[in-house]
Amino acid sequence: MFHTPFVVSFALLLSFPLLFLFVPRILPPKHVEISLPDELDDLALFRRAALTSLGGGGAVSRLGVTNPRPKIAFLFLTNTNLHFAPLWELFFKNNEALYNIYIHADPSSKITPPGGVFSGRFIAAKKTERATATLISAARRLLATAVMDDPLNSYFALVSQHCIPLHSFKYMYKTLFVKPISGRGSSSFPIHRSFIEILSDEPQLWDRYNARGKNVMLPEVPFDRFRIGSQFFVLTRQHALVVIRDRRLWRKFKLPCFNMYSCYPEEHYFPTLLSMEDPDGCTHYTLTRVNWTGSVDGHPHTYQPAEISPRLIQELRVSNSSYSFMFARKFSPDCLQPLLTMAEKVIFRD
Ligand SMILES: *[C@@H]1O[C@H](CO)[C@@H](O)[C@H](O)[C@H]1NC(C)=O
Ligand SMILES: *[C@@H]1O[C@H](CO)[C@@H](O)[C@H](O)[C@H]1NC(C)=O
Repeated sequence: MFHTPFVVSFALLLSFPLLFLFVPRILPPKHVEISLPDELDDLALFRRAALTSLGGGGAVSRLGVTNPRPKIAFLFLTNTNLHFAPLWELFFKNNEALYNIYIHADPSSKITPPGGVFSGRFIAAKKTERATATLISAARRLLATAVMDDPLNSYFALVSQHCIPLHSFKYMYKTLFVKPISGRGSSSFPIHRSFIEILSDEPQLWDRYNARGKNVMLPEVPFDRFRIGSQFFVLTRQHALVVIRDRRLWRKFKLPCFNMYSCYPEEHYFPTLLSMEDPDGCTHYTLTRVNWTGSVDGHPHTYQPAEISPRLIQELRVSNSSYSFMFARKFSPDCLQPLLTMAEKVIFRD
């Protein structure tokens, strides 16, 4: 028979290591909070961007009136060197009037500025960190800067340093601006829609919803309107403006997480906001292929040089629907050479 005091102290003793095991999961580790000056800075930028775009409907509405032709804004979100800059350089070659590039690079990382089409394309950036709302802010800064910079920017493609193109620029441009977009089949859908994954049926949704605490998302975001999707998207100008103008949802999504294992704010903010504001204006799928088979710690499969082959490129393009993927991630930096070797013959042949 144990005496109760013994049992209690034994239990206490036992619980100490358990405490150390679980505390890091419960308490948010030190991370980047969005400071008030940063927040005000962003607000001023977003306000300027929203104002400059007043009156101008963007180039898409003028499509068909020939010049000037609408452009795609490529938004590179990175915290390392742009490993695949030489591949993108080939992608952009000979399409000068049809794109703009913007780079948001974490200022605390040591980045060698790439030359060529990337030189001088860095925007005013702030620190970013995984599992925080700083990734949302960075994407919004890119969108705002691109909206203001050129009224012809009509689609906004967010990519990372681990992304590669799967098609030629011309193919991508045609898909976005010329081909009627197939999808849910009704002619009442607008021709130009945003390509963003919007899912409501994922098993992890409840944990993700409660990552900041129970009920904190209410009343702005009831659970049945909370969505999940991929971090990388291609938005129309109209939707870029929806994102830049939003204050309501941002107030909730910027809150820090308590449950770090379900904290991916950038995978929720954009799909939730756009599915609330304009669900029919979105395809609900992304153009960025990612391989979640065998993912580790929330990171998808990272392709290594030995895996790179023409067949892989063909395989990665194919979706379960009628569309073709335009980008893929993630690729390790040393995939550059094998990718360059088959760029003209495989990747840009379509
Ligand atoms: C996805 O990644 C797994 C390894 O985690 C690999 O075996 C598989 O071939 C990959 N699929 C594609 C389509 O590349
Ligand atoms: C296609 O659907 C199958 C079965 O649902 C799934 O396993 C696979 O990952 C999907 N492929 C793509 C590219 O989404």
